[in-house]
Amino acid sequence: MTAKITFDNDQKVFHLTNGSISYLFSVEEGETLSHLYFGKAVKAYHGQLKYPRVDRGFSGNLPGSLDRTYSKDTLPREYSSAGEMDYHEPATIVRQKDGSNALNLKFDSYEVKDGKPALKDLPASYTEDDSEAQTLSVNLKDEKSGLIYTLLYTIFSDFDIIARSVLVKNGGQEAVYLEKVASAQVDFVDRDFDVICLPGAHANERHMQRTPVTFGSQAFESRRGSSSHQMNPFIALVDKKTDEYSGDAYGFELVYSGNHSMALETDQLAQTRVLVGINDYNFSWKLEAGDEFQTPEVLLTYSGEGLNKMSQNFHEVIRERVVRSKFKHQKRPILVNNWEATYFDFDEKKLKPIVDEAKNLGIEMFVLDDGWFGHRNDDNSSLGDWKIFEKKFPKGLGHFADYVHDKGLKFGLWFEPEMISYDSDLYREHPDYLMQVPGRAPSPSRNQYILDLTRPEVVDVMYKQVADILANNGIDYVKWDMNRSLSDIYSVSLPADRQGEVYHRYVLGYYDLMGRLVDQFPDILFEGCSGGGGRFDAGVAYYMPQIWASDNTDAVARLAIQYGTSLAYPPSMMTAHVSAVPNHQTGRKTPFETRGAAAMSAVFGYELDLTKLTDEEKAMVKNQIADYNKVRDLVVNGDFYRLKSPTESNQAAWNFVSKDKKEVFVATFAVLAFAQPYLTKTKLKGLDPEKKYKNEETGEVFYGDELMELGIYDPVVHQDYMAKTYLFKAIN
Ligand code: GLA
Repeated sequence: MTAKITFDNDQKVFHLTNGSISYLFSVEEGETLSHLYFGKAVKAYHGQLKYPRVDRGFSGNLPGSLDRTYSKDTLPREYSSAGEMDYHEPATIVRQKDGSNALNLKFDSYEVKDGKPALKDLPASYTEDDSEAQTLSVNLKDEKSGLIYTLLYTIFSDFDIIARSVLVKNGGQEAVYLEKVASAQVDFVDRDFDVICLPGAHANERHMQRTPVTFGSQAFESRRGSSSHQMNPFIALVDKKTDEYSGDAYGFELVYSGNHSMALETDQLAQTRVLVGINDYNFSWKLEAGDEFQTPEVLLTYSGEGLNKMSQNFHEVIRERVVRSKFKHQKRPILVNNWEATYFDFDEKKLKPIVDEAKNLGIEMFVLDDGWFGHRNDDNSSLGDWKIFEKKFPKGLGHFADYVHDKGLKFGLWFEPEMISYDSDLYREHPDYLMQVPGRAPSPSRNQYILDLTRPEVVDVMYKQVADILANNGIDYVKWDMNRSLSDIYSVSLPADRQGEVYHRYVLGYYDLMGRLVDQFPDILFEGCSGGGGRFDAGVAYYMPQIWASDNTDAVARLAIQYGTSLAYPPSMMTAHVSAVPNHQTGRKTPFETRGAAAMSAVFGYELDLTKLTDEEKAMVKNQIADYNKVRDLVVNGDFYRLKSPTESNQAAWNFVSKDKKEVFVATFAVLAFAQPYLTKTKLKGLDPEKKYKNEETGEVFYGDELMELGIYDPVVHQDYMAKTYLFKAIN
């Protein structure tokens, strides 16, 4: 069905629907917006959710009103502000000239348009054709300050997604300071939720955590300047009984790469407020008369069929209408990256045998990681100097790129464009480019510092340096890294009362730099990275179709990381590599096949010294590549189904199904072996029950319903860390 947004003038109710989901809100007394419903589509609304009028002690009423039964403190709201009789955390706080922070945002007007407008300077979901979505803009006005808040809602026809953001315009005469502007608020009544989030750490990202929503406040947030390893900008609210394939699940995902806050508050009446947006920590944005501020976008989804459908809703919209890269549906080249093979200790001579071996084994791209620029032999220097390290490449980088290309391989290169080392020409020439608070020594992290990307001239300098390398050295791929969190937040280019803008302006500078480069080099495949998955978010996906999921390449550790990541992001966005054993992060020795099975469940590659492989291992690489070739389109473009959670048991399992349901790739893992193992089965999901599927390895044939309902026995193997993959193809 097509997306449709209507306003019922009699009831004063907005209804956004696409035939699969509905979102309803109304205009109540005091011209206050009130949230009514978000869930499975309904044909119409006949007023049954008008909020019951009850006199609640200590929840006061509208100014000038004698009606004690109507309070903004209890009414489910659509967008709240400070200074009202609403004691929850508000969606927005604005400091005004007289020192007050009170607003009274009243419904003023609305407009419905086909399609979806772009958000100025920010990544966002998009439409390719106006018929794909409808967008509602609701204008709320605060009379005294003259501020106008435009709440933007887009509902897509083909995705169960509502994209929300807010545009604030200062229509008054005086400058104001925005101290908080959430992108979206949703107030739920009569729900007893669990909340699922994705906390983690460097080399241990995005582990799924499910806890009860409790009375009081809970926040899942980042104050690191980036979306962070520690807490991803995603939460889901689910009913207690919701599991992967049944029950209600609401997903919230911010299309933003900076400080975020996903906050919950459950009040005296057990009503739960969700606020999603830029974190208000050290945030204050000066809005002069006539100026506008656009918040990032949040993607909201509803699934009545459990978590897996919620994830698929996000997978679809991100893959189809957030990622813009021309590579989005393409098979990504199978690469070998030299980081874990050589670290900084390499030169052209040492790399050539790896390239030769890559060619021999069927690998399609060689990626040169950190250490090719300035005079970088360790991580203590040269960030900011994106010039070729001549000692390592005496004939130039182009010469080495030619060598790689002559072998028939593509050539990729690592950058970290947002950083500066003390030991760099850039710092010696422009010490003021390094972000620091005047009079205070800045804190190093990995002995590196942050470039002040709030300054357009700094963005320009980095743009020129990176573009020059990309244009002149035959680069086919870029790995864009960021190896520390922000600190010492200050820009010498901004006055004192604008220092609260630095965090967000940094993100805008990053988007500007990245946007200019990806637009200028559309044929280069860009991969995001931040010490692995420290900036794994939908904002980055808008510019780069894939992101290095974690610096942890251990296959067992990757099970939980990739499983958790799949909650909010498609496998086509995650990159995963087979690396050496003992694993460099965990010391674990896993079988080659298991490392392959984990890496093949995402965008696949290698991260080891190919010249050190035994002949047997080389044969295994060739087989792995042949196997991956059979499923790589499926992994990038198919539907993903989680089957067994690695955090709940000793096993993990998932399967991919092609859109036409003719091909199925299954990966199962058993972490520890037992002397008398209980027998376990894996039941597949998403197949056509009527189709007959042939196991490509054994030739056995089963109906889809058999594979889904009866399942298949997992192998019994007396060895730790085992994996088994299956490829099924429909024969009817
Ligand atoms: C980060 C990345 C690694 C590697 C190093 C290089 O940690 O995640 O893959 O590129 O930087 O310094």
